[in-house]
Amino acid sequence: MTKETEAEEKLRALLAGNSAALAALDELVKDREAERYEGQLWPHVREYNRDIAAILGHACAVPTHFLHTSWSLGTPTGDLHNRYLDKVFVSVEEGLIEDLLARGIDGSIVEFGVFKGFMLGKLLDKVESLGARRRFYGFDSFEGLSRPSTEHDYEGWQEGQFKTTFEIAAANLRLSERPHLSLIKGWLNDSLKGPEAQAIRPVAYARIDVDIYEPARDCLAFLSDRLADGAILVFDDWPYASQKGESKAFIDWVKTVPHLRFEWIGQCSARIYFRVHHR
Ligand SMILES: C[S@@+](CC[C@H](N)C(=O)[O-])C[C@H]1O[C@@H](n2cnc3c(N)ncnc32)[C@H](O)[C@@H]1O
Repeated sequence: MTKETEAEEKLRALLAGNSAALAALDELVKDREAERYEGQLWPHVREYNRDIAAILGHACAVPTHFLHTSWSLGTPTGDLHNRYLDKVFVSVEEGLIEDLLARGIDGSIVEFGVFKGFMLGKLLDKVESLGARRRFYGFDSFEGLSRPSTEHDYEGWQEGQFKTTFEIAAANLRLSERPHLSLIKGWLNDSLKGPEAQAIRPVAYARIDVDIYEPARDCLAFLSDRLADGAILVFDDWPYASQKGESKAFIDWVKTVPHLRFEWIGQCSARIYFRVHHR
């Protein structure tokens, strides 16, 4: 037992029976713990916590543990771990889709950053398995990431990372059999201005998986007047830092959409899930 805890216990014994004084002591202890937690945080996490609490109206701490493994992809153990993690992430989004449909939120389902179609395929399968009819859109350069910002992205992201082809994604997603699916190829700062993109509204489910700041900022600008009341907004690579990547894009964008309110649903590793409300 630390000296501090010992002193606290003695004080509690002295105050026994005085409920107002005990309640004041509880508050003091809570404040001290919060201060201690703040003091242990890196400055960028403190800044992020402050910004996100201002947006949501409540604190929403950074997860203290991420699901990591030392075995790389391509090894049997690494692939096994990844398959399990993918199952967790997929089941979260399947649940969100089911809930969205049950609530009758109208609109399209849009993924920004499709790569070979893994997650978009899961969302399509879920909606179809429930017998629902929705328009789906997938946006991607299919050339991989655009150039990361030296200022607003963490090192590690590389231009051209996740390069694939439209044909691979189209085959994986069975595009030719799905008239309710459109894959829109191009750099987002361009493709979002095209006629097919511009005609998309409302959006019921938006999944931002472009990894880096600039395209995330472009997707959010596109969504400003398109998100339905009750829409789901998912970020797949949330760095928990106000000045970096998808977090920065969101924190900056929120100032431009005072007509929207964000309900935090949860976070899991680098993914964060919001429900969007119209004010
Ligand atoms: C991590 S991958 C997406 C993974 C995918 N959601 C899945 O389920 O496998 C990120 C994708 O974002 C795309 N991307 C990144 N920057 C882009 C940009 N500026 N314009 C268009 N696509 C971009 C990349 O081509 C890449 O396919």
